[in-house]
Amino acid sequence: MGGSTAVGGHKRGMFSSNFGFLLAAIGSAIGLGNIWRFSYMAYTNGGGAFLIPYVIALLTAGIPLLILEYGLGHREHASAPLAFAKLNRRTEWLGWWMPLFVMFGIMFYYQVVIGWCANFVIFSLDLRWGADTQEFFLKKFLGLTASPGELGGVRPLIAVSTGLMWLGTWFITFQAVHRGIERACKIFMPLLLLTTLILVGWGMTLPGAWEGIRYYLMPNWGKLLDLKVWMAAYGQIFFTLSISFGIMIAYASYLPRKVDLVQNAVITSLTNCIYSFIVGFAVFAVLGYLAMAKGLPVDQVIKAGPTLAFVVFPEAISKLPFLRELFGVLFFSALVIAGLSSGVSIIEAFTSAVTDKFKISRKLVVTLLCVTGYLGSLVFMTGGGLYWLDIVDHFLNQYGLVLAGLLQCVFVGYILKAGVLRRYINKQGRLRLSKGWDYMIKYLTPIILLIMLVRSLTGEILKGYEGYSTSALLGIGVSWLLATLTAAVVLSIYPWEPSRLRADHVPESDELFR
Ligand code: TRP
Repeated sequence: MGGSTAVGGHKRGMFSSNFGFLLAAIGSAIGLGNIWRFSYMAYTNGGGAFLIPYVIALLTAGIPLLILEYGLGHREHASAPLAFAKLNRRTEWLGWWMPLFVMFGIMFYYQVVIGWCANFVIFSLDLRWGADTQEFFLKKFLGLTASPGELGGVRPLIAVSTGLMWLGTWFITFQAVHRGIERACKIFMPLLLLTTLILVGWGMTLPGAWEGIRYYLMPNWGKLLDLKVWMAAYGQIFFTLSISFGIMIAYASYLPRKVDLVQNAVITSLTNCIYSFIVGFAVFAVLGYLAMAKGLPVDQVIKAGPTLAFVVFPEAISKLPFLRELFGVLFFSALVIAGLSSGVSIIEAFTSAVTDKFKISRKLVVTLLCVTGYLGSLVFMTGGGLYWLDIVDHFLNQYGLVLAGLLQCVFVGYILKAGVLRRYINKQGRLRLSKGWDYMIKYLTPIILLIMLVRSLTGEILKGYEGYSTSALLGIGVSWLLATLTAAVVLSIYPWEPSRLRADHVPESDELFR
């Protein structure tokens, strides 16, 4: 962040250039979701069967909503709660709810997964995972219990590494925004791509690899009728693009006037999704190899979805012909940085939400968030943590993010009016939106999301999810959503300083970009 502007007596950070903004937005988008989550979503939803819904979700929800979030944050020059409060005081709660369930939900387990990656940096030094990487990860490392009700104590190694990740997050966000992470991303993002490409290249030479790739790329038309796959694809698009997190709204508010918002949205989403697509080759090549070695079909090699990356990548690293230890260290450290650069973005977004409304120092907010964050992560560090992760992730992403996306379409489409936001966005940059975007935001996107939400929810109430008991699902998943919703409503009732709700002057880009 370069300069800052005084708006209504409040100082707001500013990115020093559009490139700086893109780096931050892509840094938030590219994270564990591209490697860890994308690969198991694709795997558990039938490989090639997943890619078609994924691309359709990107086009019908991902890009239109990212444009909406950039447009809204930019126009209102505010973080999510203030932006929605400016639309209408009665929609403000949505602006709180999004960063709330991300900060006090998704972020809790996300940091634990980054912690796992940090542990794997150390394990790489002597390839500690040995020959059976699945057994190592589930039993020795996680100490997985039999059910979510049986926690079995916090795992010390994970507690230490996750603690370090929270400390790192605190250290980065406590200081003036972004300096350190921006530099780290410039080095580590290309490094991550490079190490992945090497794994892809080498993975392809393993026996059986092509069987895996075929599973990844061959569309399975029958599966397209399965609603579960569509729901997973939409959930993944929201997660991977950080949509409905409140993050992209806050980031766009740090941009000066006259920047091409549409182009920024297209660049962010394509970079992110192409990246995931490439990672998939490495994952499925190794899965093909494992399938052959174990004499199993590709879709039965891995037991629990969320463990996939931690079983497959160690296996791939062990198979490299040389420099295995170094390679492992590079790959997992790059993952840690990619994860951290995503994690800090929610601290940033939540902090700006709070400081937009309340007179509390930024440093205090950041510190409190990181301390409560560590405590909230504790349950995911236990022997039953993986089950909790699976349930919370499923509910918050597939229901929380998708529902919030639907509401954003409705509030912006009908209260602000999609056409108003479109004309605003079109005045900013060269790439122009057609009226088709209005129809998407007002009809197409919300209708698709609504149908999926209703059908998927009724299906899961009747049949359950992945064999978890209904009480576990309702107890953990639904109460999590309701608790954050209550907090959001309470925060939104608190009155604003009147000057904050008025429109304000934002500098033109040529006043800042020189
Ligand atoms: N888009 C990120 C990814 O794909 C996810 C993410 C971004 C995230 N910011 C976050 C997760 C904050 C938790 C908290 O990995």
